[in-house]
Amino acid sequence: MEAFEIIGGTRLKGNVDISGSKNAALPILAAAILCEGDTVLHNIPNLDDIQSMLTLLQRLGVKHERLGGGSIRLRVEDELNCHAEYELVSKMRASICTLGPLLAKRKRAQVSMPGGCAIGYRPVDLHITGLTALGAESDLVNGDMMLKAKRLKGTEVFLGGAFGSSVTATANIVMAATLAEGRTIIESAACEPEISDLADFLTACGAQITGHGTPRITIEGVKTLTGAEHTVIADRIEAGTFMIAAAITNGELTLNRARLEHLIAVVDRLRRIGVIIERSEKGIAVSSSRRLDPVEITTQPFPGFPTDLQAQATALLCLADGNSVVTDKIFPDRFLHIPELNRMGANLRREGNTVIIQGVKRLIGAPVMASDLRASAALILAGLIAKGTTRMSRTYHIDRGYERIEEKLSAIGADIRRTDI
Ligand code: UD1
Repeated sequence: MEAFEIIGGTRLKGNVDISGSKNAALPILAAAILCEGDTVLHNIPNLDDIQSMLTLLQRLGVKHERLGGGSIRLRVEDELNCHAEYELVSKMRASICTLGPLLAKRKRAQVSMPGGCAIGYRPVDLHITGLTALGAESDLVNGDMMLKAKRLKGTEVFLGGAFGSSVTATANIVMAATLAEGRTIIESAACEPEISDLADFLTACGAQITGHGTPRITIEGVKTLTGAEHTVIADRIEAGTFMIAAAITNGELTLNRARLEHLIAVVDRLRRIGVIIERSEKGIAVSSSRRLDPVEITTQPFPGFPTDLQAQATALLCLADGNSVVTDKIFPDRFLHIPELNRMGANLRREGNTVIIQGVKRLIGAPVMASDLRASAALILAGLIAKGTTRMSRTYHIDRGYERIEEKLSAIGADIRRTDI
């Protein structure tokens, strides 16, 4: 098993190339199921989750060829298998993004129901609500969601849930509706930039979609979709993580290709605590030179503060000059990083979906265990500033979603290396 060893205390300085967005790439890859011709995607990050999606697509008859430099060509060669099995779905929840495309193109889909995960309960009711509204029959057999429909018919669908909109449910319904008969209107759709990127890709394939980026998306069904060439947007969560890396080390970073408009709530909170953030020619420039102020953060659907940066922001606020409050309204149990940060000398107390953070003057390196993708990022950030050595085990979580993180951090001055335990 591998671990990261981090010796804290260096000020990060320099340029970071932000990779393509994992969460935009995954549904776009799944959308290749809908296409009649070749699809060529650029800026696909080299991550374990992407490999899992490519393996799943391969089993579903979608062949791929890596063209180098983050470009991949995909083509459907066989439409017989419509089953996304437990083995792959349990590894990566985003496998559920094949549900809509399989149903729309092949008239049936069998996708293993994702179970619980480290960040808490994650239901799938909105995916099913949307697809059955389009005319699918749905059943649950041996832990698999079985959907079938001779034809899908456009309709009005409300996709608001108890915790707001759902990103992958919106992706699934948009993809299914592209080949449905007539007009579909999705109300309370997710507004995340990853949905807009998916809609842009589908539009390049011949789909008719308007309103993406707003809570009402309208789709006029078409008969077929061609493939298309598309460049995936930069990863706003990776960019936000490096913004926090600059802030926590009092460093100075330029994040190439990062888009400020995708991180507006994060920029607002970081500026409020004293971080300097500016648009630069190539992306975003971030710097910090003093002890930061405390703040309140509540995660919300886009354009609110992303839950995928909650753990990293919590790590940062451990060192603020006063008490902060962080509430996660999207995943109210996403707090497994709390006891690990406390092992490093933080003073965090969880109450329900809120963490109360009493700022401390310093963190101290310790052996810690990663529980999930974004918690891993939080522990690495804490390790970058902690006194002494932090050893984070279970690196496989971070490899799911951050491309070459140790290389990128080393290049800007961090003392981090991957070791065998
Ligand atoms: C996506 C992201 C994930 C991010 C999350 C929230 C991908 C591949 N993953 O996950 O990184 O943390 O958005 O920004 O894009 N919900 C329901 N019913 C459903 C589906 C979801 O109630 O059928 C709830 C969830 O429990 C959660 C909220 O809706 O409270 C948002 O979840 P959702 O947007 O669906 O997350 P994912 O799309 O799985």
